[in-house]
Amino acid sequence: MRKPLIAGNWKMNKTPREAAELVQALKDKLTEIDGVDIVLAPSFTALETVYNLIKGSKLGLGAQDVHWEEKGAYTGEVSFSMIKETGCQYVIIGHSERRQYFGETNETVRRKVKAALKFDLTPIVCVGERLEEREKGKTFQVVENHIKEGLATLSGEAVLKIVIAYEPVWAIGTGRTATPQQANEVHTFIRQLLSDIYNRDVASQTRILYGGSVKPDNISALMAEQEIDGALVGGASLEAQSFSEIVQRAKIKGVN
Ligand code: 13P
Repeated sequence: MRKPLIAGNWKMNKTPREAAELVQALKDKLTEIDGVDIVLAPSFTALETVYNLIKGSKLGLGAQDVHWEEKGAYTGEVSFSMIKETGCQYVIIGHSERRQYFGETNETVRRKVKAALKFDLTPIVCVGERLEEREKGKTFQVVENHIKEGLATLSGEAVLKIVIAYEPVWAIGTGRTATPQQANEVHTFIRQLLSDIYNRDVASQTRILYGGSVKPDNISALMAEQEIDGALVGGASLEAQSFSEIVQRAKIKGVN
């Protein structure tokens, strides 16, 4: 049984003060929540503030990116030990916005994933095709490359510590969600791929999230699909009401 996971990727939104307001409101709504893992991923500058508010609660903390080197002359970058010390247990790696605007490649994803595991952080590894790739029938090929190259050289045991997020780029921030069937089709493909590369245990235990215009009114249908284990939520994670509704509805699939 895979425990559902709902992660809020706040992207470049919320100052530390605004983040604190949102967390306070979320805590009020999500105190008794069970059966679903919840992760908040604010910007680097709000990590510590958020951690101080959620510590001891069931809410988890994630960073949105990280550099793979331990330290050194990398102006503007943030290291694993820095995010770990702010209380992070998770880190998002290879988000399509990082790939699209900041030159993230499968190679940098691979380095980051490897380093995350070394630092005992759970990487949420994002994969997904762009619209033109889907239209050319290349969805599976792109996702396969993201997975094979992004996770290359990792053992099955290491992959068990990873969360994968399938985020079709054309569904991010567009209001155009993949249908539950479209999403499940790719999730099934990813699981088969993990089974082929590693084994059936790794494939069946790895959590695969869907991301792309997830809202309270579509989460239930997405979660009803067998291979969808949760969501990576952007816009709807910025409001306590919508994010907590998503969590509540995802919980229905969870263990109690
Ligand atoms: P939206 O939910 O705003 O489409 O963003 C999805 C996403 O990119 C989460 O990482």
